[in-house]
Order: sequence, then structure tokens, then C-alpha cells
Amino acid sequence: MNVFVTGGAGYIGSVCVEELLEAGHSVTVFDNLSEGHRSAVDPRATFIAGDFSDRALIDSAIGRVKPDAVIHFAAHALVGESMTNPSKYFRNNVASGINLLDACVTHGVRKFVFSSTCATYGIPEKMPMDESLPQRPVNPYGESKLMFERILSWYRDLHGLEFVAFRYFNAAGASARFGEHHRIETHLIPNILKVALGQKAQVELNTNLRTPEATQASSRLMPPATLFRKYFDGLVMDSPTSALAAKWMTASAPASLTTAAKWSRSARSP
Ligand SMILES: NC(=O)c1ccc[n+]([C@@H]2O[C@H](COP(=O)([O-])OP(=O)(O)OC[C@H]3O[C@@H](n4cnc5c(N)ncnc54)[C@H](O)[C@@H]3O)[C@@H](O)[C@H]2O)c1
Repeated sequence: MNVFVTGGAGYIGSVCVEELLEAGHSVTVFDNLSEGHRSAVDPRATFIAGDFSDRALIDSAIGRVKPDAVIHFAAHALVGESMTNPSKYFRNNVASGINLLDACVTHGVRKFVFSSTCATYGIPEKMPMDESLPQRPVNPYGESKLMFERILSWYRDLHGLEFVAFRYFNAAGASARFGEHHRIETHLIPNILKVALGQKAQVELNTNLRTPEATQASSRLMPPATLFRKYFDGLVMDSPTSALAAKWMTASAPASLTTAAKWSRSARSP
């Protein structure tokens, strides 16, 4: 398969690209390197430096590559920053993303995998969370991802763009070559490792939060990129593989992650 990966120079994208290449797919990475790193792009992938806010650029990139599928990781992803600068989040994660969707429609892309977030759920009504819970985001980051999911539903219904959205959180882990290297690091595991390496004095935990699931998710160190690749196989192949991928995810993921994905063939996303 010919796969176009936005955000493939970032943390999860870079490992996912490596997994895709290992599985025999050909990959083009599209990234503006605002947060990602050129050195994190697997040398076997084709790299296009660019920003999808540039409608003409993303259109010509998709038109040139003619991918069978797009995996969309590129986004701004700092919850705290989204509370002080919501415009940045709605502009990049929603408005600019529409350029990518339009390019997919124009050039006949039929498969789309979206890196959404558990933040679309907001404060959960029960624990462990599952997919049936209402999506009520409590910050612009989560809201921007939910908006994009809803836009995707309309593009599926009106343009036939099949999609799957992952609503996960606390991604952790790395491959031997690629891993987490955010310029501003807000995630627990890399910050703990920085303390161990003497690069940071201490890590402060918000002890008011009761987050057993978060701890469980982190402690399993499940490589999110593997998860993406498995689901990708399910998406681009036929339903038997989809079923396998779904089984794999259910078996491997912590309860709060199990039902993160929703197939576009089923009912419209909540
Ligand atoms: N890390 C997590 O725990 C986690 C959890 C749930 C969801 N997600 C989502 O997964 C995706 C990847 O997360 P990550 O931790 O790898 O983030 P990341 O910041 O490492 O990667 C995002 C990449 O997108 C690129 N990018 C951003 N805006 C762009 C634009 N307009 N045009 C081109 N490139 C652009 C950045 O340069 C960066 O390389 C994000 O969409 C994030 O919201 C992450």
C-alpha cells in the first residue's frame, strides 16, 4: 500500500512510519517540523516538508503521491496551551485539516485513519471508560479533535471517505530507533526518565486526580504505533484482517483504550 502520513516526523508518527515500512508499505511523510524532527523520519520514507494550512501545497502533495490511505497524526497537542490559545488549536487541528480532507476527496483517497484523543470524552461518567460514554470535551484540544471526527463523519457520508478514529491517551514506548522527543514535554513517562537521567530535578504529580487507568495504560508501555499499524492493516485489507486487528487491540489494550476506534462502516460516530 501507498500510505501518506501527516505528522510522521513526530513521536507516534515516526514509529508508525517505521512499522509501516517494516510491513512492506511505501510511505510518504508530510510534516512542517514545528514539533517533529527531520532525523525522526525513517530514511526509507519520502519526506515532504510542508504545512497543510497551505491548501495548494497539500493538494499537490496528495495529487502527486496518490496514496491508497492517509494516516493523520499532525496536530497541536498540548492541552494546557489550548486553554490559553484556543485559536491555534481550532485553526490547525480543524480548519487546516479540512484542506487535507478536500485533497483526499479531490484525488480519490478512500481510506483515512485519524489520531484522535480520549480528551474528546472530557470528565468520564464512569470508570473504566468505554466508547459508549458521551463525548463532552473540557478543553479546546479535545474539542478540536471531536470537531474533526464529526467533519470526517460528514465526509464519509457525503464523499465516501472511509475513516477510523483512535481515541487514546497516554501513549508510551519507543522503537529501537525512534521515540518521544517533544520540545515541550508534558507527558509523565519521559519526564520521569528525565529525572532519572539528571536532566530534571523532579516530577510533580497532581494527586487530586484519581487516575488508575492512566497509570495502568502507562505502565503497560503499549507501543501506539504498532496499534496503528495493526488497525491500518485491518482498514486497507479486508474484513478478516479488521476482525483480527480488533481482537488484537481488545486483547492488548488497557480497558480505557479498548474501544478507542470506531469503524466508519458502522453507525455515525457519536
Ligand atoms: N502522545 C499522546 O499520548 C497522544 C495521545 C492521544 C492522541 N495523540 C494525538 O496523536 C497525534 C500525534 O501525537 P504525538 O505525541 O506524536 O505528537 P507530535 O507533536 O510529536 O507529532 C505531531 C507532528 O505533527 C506535525 N505538525 C503539526 N501541525 C502540522 C501542520 N499544520 N502541518 C504539518 N505538520 C504538522 C509536527 O511537526 C509533529 O511532527 C496528535 O494528533 C495527537 O493529538 C497523542
